[in-house]
Amino acid sequence: MKAPGAKTFYACSNCGSTFAKWSGQCPDCGAWDTMHEEKAPAAGATRAAKGRARVEAPPTLSEVNADTLALLATGIAELDNVLGGGASPGSTVLVGGEPGIGKSTLMLQAAGRLAQRGYGTLYMSGEESAAQIKRRADRLGIRSDLHIGTDTEVDLILASADTIKPRALIVDSIQTTVDRQLQSPPGTVSQIRETALTISQWARAHNAVAFLIGHVTKEGFIAGPKVLEHLVDTVLQFEGDRRQWIRILRCLKNRYGSTHEVGLFEMTERGLAQIENPSAHFLSERPEDVPGSAVAVAIEGRRPLLVEVQALVGEGGGVPQRVMSGYDARRAAILIAILQNSGGLRLAGRDVYLNLVGGYTSDEPAIDLAGAMSISSAALKKPVPAGTVFIGEVGLAGEIRGVPQIAPRLNEAEKLGFRQAVIPQVNTRDLPPAGDLEVVGVRTLDHALRLL
Ligand code: TYD
Ligand code: MG
Repeated sequence: MKAPGAKTFYACSNCGSTFAKWSGQCPDCGAWDTMHEEKAPAAGATRAAKGRARVEAPPTLSEVNADTLALLATGIAELDNVLGGGASPGSTVLVGGEPGIGKSTLMLQAAGRLAQRGYGTLYMSGEESAAQIKRRADRLGIRSDLHIGTDTEVDLILASADTIKPRALIVDSIQTTVDRQLQSPPGTVSQIRETALTISQWARAHNAVAFLIGHVTKEGFIAGPKVLEHLVDTVLQFEGDRRQWIRILRCLKNRYGSTHEVGLFEMTERGLAQIENPSAHFLSERPEDVPGSAVAVAIEGRRPLLVEVQALVGEGGGVPQRVMSGYDARRAAILIAILQNSGGLRLAGRDVYLNLVGGYTSDEPAIDLAGAMSISSAALKKPVPAGTVFIGEVGLAGEIRGVPQIAPRLNEAEKLGFRQAVIPQVNTRDLPPAGDLEVVGVRTLDHALRLL
């Protein structure tokens, strides 16, 4: 009997047509170099014959274990949301930020929560001793049993990981991690790249999540050379002004989710606390009815955020000071020029201080109008109307330009008890039915300034 041999045919990878003979161009679709040899199932090897060799029934849906795919959530919503609901098993997350911003604190808190939820967790620090970490953990109120290591050599780190088999491995920091086989010192590009790659391969192979902490220097280790960005699945950036308490966690890259969410935290005596109602937080100390204060509605990620813009205009003498904090200096300079030109405000030679309250930073055009109102209010010593938010971009000719996402901004203002919103005229067109918030559309800066 003839052994069951496979019959050869040729298939076009472009259109799927099959032919007995090969040709350089597919006769059906005309594509070139798309024909590949394939084998037809042999005559004797019927599906039934093969199928009977199977001994176990395939599992039912309810029997399939999908836990290995389940996201690792810390229970810290501000962190989980930024990750897209949690960290994907097998992935590597880079957590970047300036030294002292709170990366170790955030990740130790996250590690504590993961361990508490029953995930094996290993926190490997090349930056602090085990005793120092213990003291910090005590201060943060962490009582769960996570593993603490202080190795810096990548082989030792992964040897510990092989023993403990954690679902979460935190490496603090990638700059202190070394591969002995490389000649270059820790923190160099080749060391960072090699050790990160080795750790991420371990994470993928073990279905664990690797969190790599990375210091971003002024030169910008993450944003600048982008040494690690393409190597990891997710890049988080922890930001804020070290002298202030607010911290913002942004997602710069996420292979498994959106990059629109941001997490808001407050650095307290006992670690990072989530800010659940940021608008209320930013406005908590706002003085009413004093000149030089106006409320803007910014958008962070997908979240509307009410922030106070404060201005102070001094008589000056000598070189006029322009001091911005939190407010983008370039946008502020343009705003001041516009106010002098089309607003008719006398600012030349005077000092202007502009501040976004609470350590918040933004360069969003939509906060222009509030900036302009607060400077004008300070210069004219007249408070802005009470209970009013200002939304709009100010154009060079003093026109008020439309902004995106007007509806969520107005909702947030209303939720926080504001009674009036001054917004770009163009944005008044497709608004949902008005609630208790009175909406005033303005076309020009002049128009808005008349409200003072
Ligand atoms: P840290 O997490 O060490 O920063 P990073 O790892 O990014 O370099 O935290 C830095 C600062 O946070 C440190 O100066 C002290 C402060 N901090 C608090 O205010 N409260 C706390 O509970 C902790 C642990 C730190
Ligand atoms: Mg640290």
